[in-house]
Amino acid sequence: MANIILVGAQWGDEGKGKIIDVLTEQTDIVVRTQGGNNAGHTVFVGKRKFVLHLVPSGILRPGKTCVIGNGVVVDPLGLVEELRALRRLKVKVDGNLFISETAHVVLPYHRELDEQREILKGKHRLGTTKRGIGPAYGDKAARTGLRMLDLVRPDAFARKLRIRLKENNGVLKAFGARPLSFAAVHDAYRKAGDALRPHVTNTVVLLHQAMMRGASLLFEGAQGTFLDIDHGTYPYVTSSNTTAGGACTGSGVPPHRIDRVVGVVKAYTTRVGEGPLPTENAEIADLLHGMGREFGATTGRPRRCGWFDAVASRHAAMVNGIDDLAVTNVDGLDTLEMIRVCVAYRVANQQFDYVPGDVDLLSQCEPVYVDFPGWRRPLDKARRWRDLPGRARAYLNAIADLTGARLSMVSVGPARDQTIVR
Ligand code: IMP
Ligand code: MG
Repeated sequence: MANIILVGAQWGDEGKGKIIDVLTEQTDIVVRTQGGNNAGHTVFVGKRKFVLHLVPSGILRPGKTCVIGNGVVVDPLGLVEELRALRRLKVKVDGNLFISETAHVVLPYHRELDEQREILKGKHRLGTTKRGIGPAYGDKAARTGLRMLDLVRPDAFARKLRIRLKENNGVLKAFGARPLSFAAVHDAYRKAGDALRPHVTNTVVLLHQAMMRGASLLFEGAQGTFLDIDHGTYPYVTSSNTTAGGACTGSGVPPHRIDRVVGVVKAYTTRVGEGPLPTENAEIADLLHGMGREFGATTGRPRRCGWFDAVASRHAAMVNGIDDLAVTNVDGLDTLEMIRVCVAYRVANQQFDYVPGDVDLLSQCEPVYVDFPGWRRPLDKARRWRDLPGRARAYLNAIADLTGARLSMVSVGPARDQTIVR
């Protein structure tokens, strides 16, 4: 089997967890390469629901190896809790889950600073998940971060933590926030370090050795293309490279070893947090929320919703090199009489067929729509392409054509078997 990168081609929450789970069947190792526990991947196995934040979704398939790569930021307390919950559900996490020794650690001052910066920004806030992701990547870039290899070495950890707390407590005081106690932080994180130590290793070498033995890799993206720190709607983005390139830097697997890029989109658009969303629409949001859909897996926040944005998906195909498209949540549109697709943006008399890099300009963009007739039938029982009504097939073919990728998978519900592979 090939080495595959899976990316979100919208603003995150594209239903990647479910597609990863399906693709994992044909892969040996599943690798997370960026982000942290800001991510929330929901996977249903039978009637059981799993929400994963840091652990790759591959953990739910027996016999698979999972890797948290060097590009991820690891909240040790969050990860220990996630492993505990998985063990309670009888999911094997020992001997099959490895954490990069060079992955950076999220510490309590990162979470506290994330929160304080949001408060300071007031109505210009980003709407972060408050998991400390931005400050942790900030420390990584500033070369003041602690890494997993520090966390698992008691002497190094105590020494480095003391220095970092000195600086960060100064900053917290300036925000009017409470400083953190060395003893309390040290204690909790040392315990987590002890619990995680057996998983920590050189994952770059592990992955290369596995490839030499013929193993195939699946890189599971977190968040989505327009939350990418370089290619997203900056500053309304997360702090990592969510696009395909991030899979290589975040794992140490070079680009020429990648065979295929799979992009995942919802059949419509959603976003959580602030920032422009050109096709946002109150009616479709009410419809989806009324069906109990589109509440965040990590924060429970209702997601903002809109029509499918083919300008964005085409841009995502360009930046990621998407070969195959997986379209999820198609059943969310079952009741609509008419379904709109954005095919261009317009500002005054200028037209765009890509997503402008300037968020202020993007905020002014008016979508140009093409309308499709709805199929007005439940799709949740469809298992083959030919089970789909002609109108659903026409809609799906159109969004794949507009995106410029091959339509390879269609998901019509949360269960593993509610997936049509073309
Ligand atoms: P942060 O990653 O917590 O710093 O949040 C930055 C922005 O990314 C906010 O708008 C979040 O709502 C968004 N975000 C972060 N992680 C996810 C995700 O997994 N799905 C969707 N949006 C996310
Ligand atoms: Mg999510």
